[in-house]
Amino acid sequence: MTGSTGGHVDGRLTGRLIGLGVTGSIAAYKAVELLRLLRAEGADVAVMLTPSAAQFVGPLSFAALSRHPVETDLLGLLPDGRIGHIVVGDTADAIAVAPATAHFLGAMANGLAGDVVTATCLASRAPIVVAPAMDGDMWTHPATQANVTRLRDAFGYRIVEPEQGSLASGQSGVGRLADLGLIVDAIVAAVADRPVRVPEPAARPPLVATAHDADLTGRHIVVSAGGTREAIDPVRFIGNRSTGKMGVAVAEAALARGASVTVIAANVEVPLPRTATVARVESTADLRAALLRLTQRTDGTAGYDALVMAAAVADFRPVAPADRKLERAARLAIELESTPDLLAEVARIAHGLDSHGAPTRRPLEPVPVLVGFAAETGSLERAGEKLRRKGVDLLVANDVSEPGSGFGTDTNRVTVLGADGSRDELPLLTKRGVAERLLDRVALALDARDAARQTDATTAQRSPEPA
Ligand SMILES: Cc1cc2nc3c(=O)[nH]c(=O)nc-3n(C[C@H](O)[C@H](O)[C@H](O)COP(=O)(O)O)c2cc1C
Repeated sequence: MTGSTGGHVDGRLTGRLIGLGVTGSIAAYKAVELLRLLRAEGADVAVMLTPSAAQFVGPLSFAALSRHPVETDLLGLLPDGRIGHIVVGDTADAIAVAPATAHFLGAMANGLAGDVVTATCLASRAPIVVAPAMDGDMWTHPATQANVTRLRDAFGYRIVEPEQGSLASGQSGVGRLADLGLIVDAIVAAVADRPVRVPEPAARPPLVATAHDADLTGRHIVVSAGGTREAIDPVRFIGNRSTGKMGVAVAEAALARGASVTVIAANVEVPLPRTATVARVESTADLRAALLRLTQRTDGTAGYDALVMAAAVADFRPVAPADRKLERAARLAIELESTPDLLAEVARIAHGLDSHGAPTRRPLEPVPVLVGFAAETGSLERAGEKLRRKGVDLLVANDVSEPGSGFGTDTNRVTVLGADGSRDELPLLTKRGVAERLLDRVALALDARDAARQTDATTAQRSPEPA
């Protein structure tokens, strides 16, 4: 399964990215329906609102229908630090401005880029379709007409002329936004015979997370977040660049889906969700102690339904941390030893195995779903081997050297490997988006686990007692 942002697969705009600019006309509400029609044609749509347009119709409906964050602030950056109007300008197959105000026509005709819609048009080589809507006298004013002529003749913009009809003022005249079907047709005609400009989802504007049901209600999910620190002496440590954003995104998403959540927080730099139970830890040894405490209850049952190990755990630690601050010296050699593989240890406990993989005691009841994260630099080849070695159900692998992925960013591009051999290469998503997709898999795995237990229980009831 890969991320698809389009609507119908057989639409006239399948695979296309359309930038939809909405300006401050009374007809702005019609842009929501236009967005729906474009999605129905298969388009991926990124919406931009001028500040006036945002007063007529808020961004929520546009974001929910387009699944992209709506651009309203020219000076705001995308979550991953990219500049929104440049991203849309560079990746859109076409930009449609509908409805377009008299003010937009004037600003655009003069190359003024004071809002996100004009700035995107100015920053793009994509074909541009403009559907004006305004009061009849505004439309016939020589200034407006001169601006329209300039946009059409000098810039090559396609103008979908307004229609005769009743206007917001209560009067009748030419100025009504053209029929939406005609605007869609003009966009289709604008992209016809051109190849899809930038098919890679990662280069396009990021996606927003979709809303979910409370499908984790009654589940207890433990999430480790942040990065461990291994003491060199009382003031220095060996650490890593993890900020905890990914783990916190998983915790927040799980809470929103109804789970009770425990966060094991290792030096997290972002705020922790207020409704989670929090255990703060510093080192790998602390994290191990917290994990083991949570994994098994005294009666042998599992302490949680799923564990998501998003924390970056040190692979090495100083053999003998100094108990006093080390003095300055010309050189310092620190001997390191490897730390235990915590997830592999939890997996062995969960399945009742000893360190050689042989059954030694009863598995936890029920066996929790275990999810690991593997940060790689370069190829993800080693991730499949890691999944088997650790004995986990899901492994989320990402190349932290890729732009927009890894430590401290708000986005991530990951591949989710399953113990069942599945491999989902997700597009560049916000960390919340990654968390949601991951929890989709966790929720499915938990449902499958419960169904299997139910079947086992029924079979056991029906079987005759052993003689
Ligand atoms: C109720 C109302 C309706 C308006 N409708 C239109 C319209 O249909 N077309 C237009 O060009 N301007 C209209 N305006 C004026 C624009 O909102 C105004 O010129 C604004 O500065 C446009 O900004 P923008 O082009 O950056 O979105 C309307 C204003 C109000 C108060």
